[in-house]
Amino acid sequence: MSDKEFQTNTSEWFYPPEHIVQNANVPDYETVYQKAVEDPISFWAERAETLEWYQKWDKVLDDSNAPFYKWFTGGKTNIVLNALDRHQKTWRRNKLAIIWEGEDGEKRSFSYWRLNQEVCKFANVLRSMGVRKGDTVTIYMGRTPEIVIAMLACAKVGAIHSVIYGGFSEQAIADRIEDAKSRVMITSDGAWLRGQIVPLKDNVDKAIDRSPIVEHVIVVKRTGQDVPMVQGRDYWYHDLMALPIASTRSETEVMDAEDPLFILYTSGTTGKPKGILHTHGGYQVYTSTTLSWVFDIKDDDRWWCAADPGWITGHSYIVYAPLILGATSIIYEGAPTYPYPDRWWRIVEDYGVTILYTAPTAIRGLMRFGDAWPNRRDLSSLRLLGSVGEPINPEAWKWFYNVIGKGKCPIMDAWWQTETGGFMITPLPSVPLKPGSATRPFPGIVVDVVDEDGNSCPPNEDGKLVIKTPWPSMLRTIWGDDQRYINQYWSAYQEQGWYLAGDSARKDEDGYIWVIGRIDDVIKVSGYRLGTAEIESGLVSHPAVAEAAVIGVPDEVKGNVIYAYCILVAGETGSDELAKELREHVRHEVGPIAMPTKIEFVDKLPKTRSGKIMRRVLKARAMGLPEGDLSTLED
Ligand code: PRX
Repeated sequence: MSDKEFQTNTSEWFYPPEHIVQNANVPDYETVYQKAVEDPISFWAERAETLEWYQKWDKVLDDSNAPFYKWFTGGKTNIVLNALDRHQKTWRRNKLAIIWEGEDGEKRSFSYWRLNQEVCKFANVLRSMGVRKGDTVTIYMGRTPEIVIAMLACAKVGAIHSVIYGGFSEQAIADRIEDAKSRVMITSDGAWLRGQIVPLKDNVDKAIDRSPIVEHVIVVKRTGQDVPMVQGRDYWYHDLMALPIASTRSETEVMDAEDPLFILYTSGTTGKPKGILHTHGGYQVYTSTTLSWVFDIKDDDRWWCAADPGWITGHSYIVYAPLILGATSIIYEGAPTYPYPDRWWRIVEDYGVTILYTAPTAIRGLMRFGDAWPNRRDLSSLRLLGSVGEPINPEAWKWFYNVIGKGKCPIMDAWWQTETGGFMITPLPSVPLKPGSATRPFPGIVVDVVDEDGNSCPPNEDGKLVIKTPWPSMLRTIWGDDQRYINQYWSAYQEQGWYLAGDSARKDEDGYIWVIGRIDDVIKVSGYRLGTAEIESGLVSHPAVAEAAVIGVPDEVKGNVIYAYCILVAGETGSDELAKELREHVRHEVGPIAMPTKIEFVDKLPKTRSGKIMRRVLKARAMGLPEGDLSTLED
């Protein structure tokens, strides 16, 4: 059963305004798509030519060891060469790169010149701590300019950053440090969220107790509360940045196109998080092309990707792609509703935001407060809107379109994944829209909806979403686990050599793709991706719990919420207090985003004869739906 079934109308069209089509960076999707499909190598080479390289590539695509594809082999580059260095030589050095607003109202902005200086200084600090090309550095911070500086400084010195989203806690952090083998960590004392402090440094201290391989922790002061600093291990960022070593002159490391840029952990079907690996060369080409064409970035735009830098959306479209394009980005630290439900609309008004890219869960959350909040603000600067992370229900789509976009801003509903690095199925501003559909594949991308045997499904029939040809920003592997990379993404359609996305989808009679939801044990909560296994092992790590199963149940605002079913160890009895304690335990171990909404104590769980928990049966029961085929049930 799918995560969520929306009432969709496959014949309802929304046409973009004429001036948007005419001024679009790509006014004619069909022609460009055809050209890219016919000759992808020339197409991607031409895109790569728009960037700077220390040395040009020998080969655009090396597919000799598929599915370990390589792009732009022989090319020498560094994503920082394109994101910062090249802008210093043009008028852009005086353009704003980042406009930042803290939840508490603090404001800071950085020109390309100034951002580069900060990155150079911090790169020198990292080098002085012994960080070298190929080392991993773990970053666990809130949404402040320093997270961007830290990521770029790592890339500049050739280190591989691994950013952990601030909504995770102790055990989740410890697992990720351990897997990436990071000796150096960057964090902050805390972050502001809904007027409260998220205790980031505390979480780091506890995680390091569990994963003691970390030797140095660099701490950015954001909230200013007292945090214990371990002598010889912990250093304040501002102290280090004041040292003579932190000069504004710093060389950018020359990297091979295929050298690792970052690892980003994401949830899969087993408990162990997957470190998705991206590299310098192909990733910079793909993310900058997609941002330029889908969101039509112009020199005078004010781009706001209202995501967290700690997720792929933030990596690609807050940090790297906008900087490569020389755009001005807005970053806001806190909650959309703090202190009032018009915070976001005020930011649009204050900064003249022209493009706003967000998630269905945020749209639904803000929609609940009614139209008066957005209506009291001047939103006339907006030209384009965007949605990502989960299917958008037509009701939320229409509210976003009419109330926020005033019926004149097309919505770019982009489907993609941590693994894909950039937008895969997405409209361009010139493409007619259908609410709830991510429309058509980006130029250069070949997708299909197929059955178990790989046959294309007839129109409007559910199937599996596959990507049929490689693309420059595809993940290169799962960090330290090539076999898992093959099993997870390539073994289902091994003969055909297709990438299995893990989503079910439909294609309508117009070739528009409707993504339905995950087919594996991944739950999308508020657009965030969580594995059932990670939450279940969090529950089982409590001494009272013998076994646990969790499912996602549709929710009007969050998309899904988590229900947990627990079998207790002999001698324990279920109670409201214990349920509360278990929820807190999950918050503590995995993170606030993973907290179950409901915990039910049960004597047994529905299992197959081979012992696999049948989560679809639990889900059907929770939703009062037919339980389907139970022939494989244990008893
Ligand atoms: O199920 C799809 C859903 O999000 C999954 C990828 O999650 P993550 O790696 O965290 O990346 C999210 C941001 C790119 C997909 O497998 N998804 C993402 N975008 C959409 C979507 N589902 C429907 N429509 C979308 N636009």
